[in-house]
Amino acid sequence: MPYQQFLADARSQSKWIVDIRRQLHRFPELMYEEFKTSQLVCDTLDELGIFYASGIAETGVVATLGTGESPCIALRADMDALPILEETDVPFRSEIDGKMHACGHDCHTAMLLGAAKLLREHESELKGTVRLLFQPAEEGGAGGKRMREAGVLENPSVERIFGLHVWPQLPTGTIGSRTGTFLAAAGEVDITIHGKGGHAAMPHHCIDPVVTAAKVVTELQTIISRNLDPLDSGVISITTIHGGEAYNVIPESVRLTGTIRALTMDRFRWLQERVASLATQVAAANDCTATIEFPGEAYPPTVNDADVWSTVQDLASELLGRAAVHEIPPVMGGEDFAFYTEQVPGCFVALGVRNEESGCTYNVHHPLFKADEEALPIGSALHACFAVQTLQNLSGT
Ligand code: NI
Repeated sequence: MPYQQFLADARSQSKWIVDIRRQLHRFPELMYEEFKTSQLVCDTLDELGIFYASGIAETGVVATLGTGESPCIALRADMDALPILEETDVPFRSEIDGKMHACGHDCHTAMLLGAAKLLREHESELKGTVRLLFQPAEEGGAGGKRMREAGVLENPSVERIFGLHVWPQLPTGTIGSRTGTFLAAAGEVDITIHGKGGHAAMPHHCIDPVVTAAKVVTELQTIISRNLDPLDSGVISITTIHGGEAYNVIPESVRLTGTIRALTMDRFRWLQERVASLATQVAAANDCTATIEFPGEAYPPTVNDADVWSTVQDLASELLGRAAVHEIPPVMGGEDFAFYTEQVPGCFVALGVRNEESGCTYNVHHPLFKADEEALPIGSALHACFAVQTLQNLSGT
């Protein structure tokens, strides 16, 4: 099958893909609330005559194309938005105040539906099964883990998996990824420093958790600078501080939250232990106590399989030219695609959506983030080509 044809077809169906993307963009939904999004995915699959199951891990949808037999590969998109007030000037800007598709998951879902349309037109030629995973709750809710636990990688067993993420650091028409660890292990930390509140004019009758919390924030920075091997990578960012109500009252407690990241799970667990130990001891040295929690599900690092990345590089080179394919360094962002690649060889790929002329320059998670929609048919074509080529490789035909 000539892959250039997939790209040409995707480009000719560009309006169809863009319309879906814009509809999703106007009505963003947060994790595990992707009900309308899920419905739109189901309606579109109905329109295409593609079999699917819905309500997986709350709002997930799993569609199936091809023979229904092994080999089986999976293509994945995430559907959730972020609690951000959109500030862009696009005509299809979010109509839900305080919610925005600021991580491009609207693009991911639309591109995978675009791939569904392409693959449906070539379904009889597929040498196995293609499973399309539309998952909830990538942004901290570990939706990928729940999808995996719901069995989306079984019956028949998924042998390879592919996912795309819009990437404002790369220009439209290019892609980037790497062999091995591409994205970090990531998790939350929640620390409460307990002291003894009272009149701010009489600090000697109180135990001040504000001063202690400030010391904890500062001391935690020494873990990366003094304890971690300089050639290794880690991040500890304390991102919120809450304590006190009045200028003349020393509060009982102060709460700090933040994120911990590393490139391996071992290193991540070690950073968690260091954070807990240091916060406890700094608190104790100041007559306070510390409660440390690591809420939510920590994401493992996203590790790409060398052969799968090699296949993607070949396909992308054919579609976009060799110069458009970049080996890029790891990033300390986290991504729950990692829950799939823990079990199945796969590749997570950065899809360029940067376009200076149309103002698509802001990073994801920014209220001014815009994705260049010219990239959407490229993403759909890459998904479809990956499915066809990988099934061909696995079936030995
Ligand atoms: Ni994202």
